[in-house]
Amino acid sequence: MFDLIVRNGTVATAADVFSSDVAIKDGRIVQLGHDLGEAREVLDATGKLVLPGGIDSHVHIAQPSGDGIVMADDFESGTRSALFGGNTTVMPFCLQQKGQSLRAALDGYHALAEGNCYTDVSFHLILSDPTPSVLGQELPALVEEGYTSFKVFMTYEDLRLQDSEILKVMAVAQQTGALVMVHCENEDAIRFLVDAHEAAAAFGPVSHATTRPAAVEREATHRALTLAEIARVPVVIVHVSNGAAIEEIARARSRGLSVIGETCPQYLTLTADDLDGMDWEGAKFVCSPPPRDQAEQQNCWRGLELGTFELFSSDHCPFRYDGPQGKRNPRGRKSFRHIPNGIPGVETRMPILFSEGVVGGRISLSRFVALTSTNHAKAYGLYPQKGTVAIGADADLAIWDPRLTRTIRHADLHDGGDYSPYEGRAITGWPTDVVLGGQWVIRDEELRVSKGLGTYRARQKSNLSLLR
Ligand code: URP
Ligand code: ZN
Ligand code: ZN
Repeated sequence: MFDLIVRNGTVATAADVFSSDVAIKDGRIVQLGHDLGEAREVLDATGKLVLPGGIDSHVHIAQPSGDGIVMADDFESGTRSALFGGNTTVMPFCLQQKGQSLRAALDGYHALAEGNCYTDVSFHLILSDPTPSVLGQELPALVEEGYTSFKVFMTYEDLRLQDSEILKVMAVAQQTGALVMVHCENEDAIRFLVDAHEAAAAFGPVSHATTRPAAVEREATHRALTLAEIARVPVVIVHVSNGAAIEEIARARSRGLSVIGETCPQYLTLTADDLDGMDWEGAKFVCSPPPRDQAEQQNCWRGLELGTFELFSSDHCPFRYDGPQGKRNPRGRKSFRHIPNGIPGVETRMPILFSEGVVGGRISLSRFVALTSTNHAKAYGLYPQKGTVAIGADADLAIWDPRLTRTIRHADLHDGGDYSPYEGRAITGWPTDVVLGGQWVIRDEELRVSKGLGTYRARQKSNLSLLR
């Protein structure tokens, strides 16, 4: 007897869409087909889509920010919100503080996550202090233990690495088979523009966008790709916001570089005008790179349609708007420079792409699955255990009602913050049920488990040939 059968649904993978029941035992998918037999529980998916659980490979949870500001989500609220949005795995970042060992940083994040997660989790490392011992000893050992990706920053005073340091990090990736993710914005150019804006008393949130124009991102993207070419490593260009950066990725690919592009909901749906709100409301949309304009939204859509982007992630980076930790009054200093960077979105990532992409006729259902689940598993070493509906895979499923309409209201979401940047947006298609490791954890939009079912997952090294 099976533990669970998902019956009468339409299964979609990154390759196919087909009618099938899904039989589950001991946390794994064990049979596909019809008339599979008896199970202890039956999930009737008539009229619904049965998709691999979403994998959001770019989220920030409980990550300390400058000025001692604390994020709005801990592992409990962040993964709960992710689960309600149809995700079964998230990949938060583990931030190394200056002077800290990577091991100490990881111990801290594991302690926060352990026993508190509603989804499976796996960590990327953020390297802020690539000392010889970090590069020579710690990092290679951690890659072997399953921390097979790390992010480097070209911006933020306290995080940015110099080109020489990025090259050294890439050299470790070259030797170990790890994957480097790069945040591409030119910090010196931003600093120059920030000083000029403040000298002109342009302190409002919209100055966040005008001090980080597309040229800042284009130059850094070009430089990151050049460094990767020199170091002979594959690279992920994260949270790409505009057509010029997309062109840099396409050019690098045509030179033979293995590059993965990622974009996010904010670059399809928001613009810099949103930062120009009255009474500091624009702070709700401050993230880096900033949202651009409608023409750049179309460029990002084209990147999704034509394949420049393999990954669609949320870059969920939640700060409250009100209160002492909030964006409204950042430490009492009224300049855009002090607004914590980042916006929430782990729960709304997939509904937005489903509604505007699949229902809107821009991408196929299989492309949706690839962009939100399968490609994340392939890029970051979780495939085929995760990211697909196949015999032997983890029984991580999201059951979607493709006709269900919703208006995004923060009051209905499940994160720890106090607003959604997508408030009021009309959506068609929403996940109603989620199965994690064979357990039916959300039933008809109701949470049926307590925290702690989600566990940490070590990862394989990425095999990028899976993506091509
Ligand atoms: O504004 C953003 N994106 N904050 C999150 C940190 C990052 O750079 O991904
Ligand atoms: Zn970033
Ligand atoms: Zn991020």
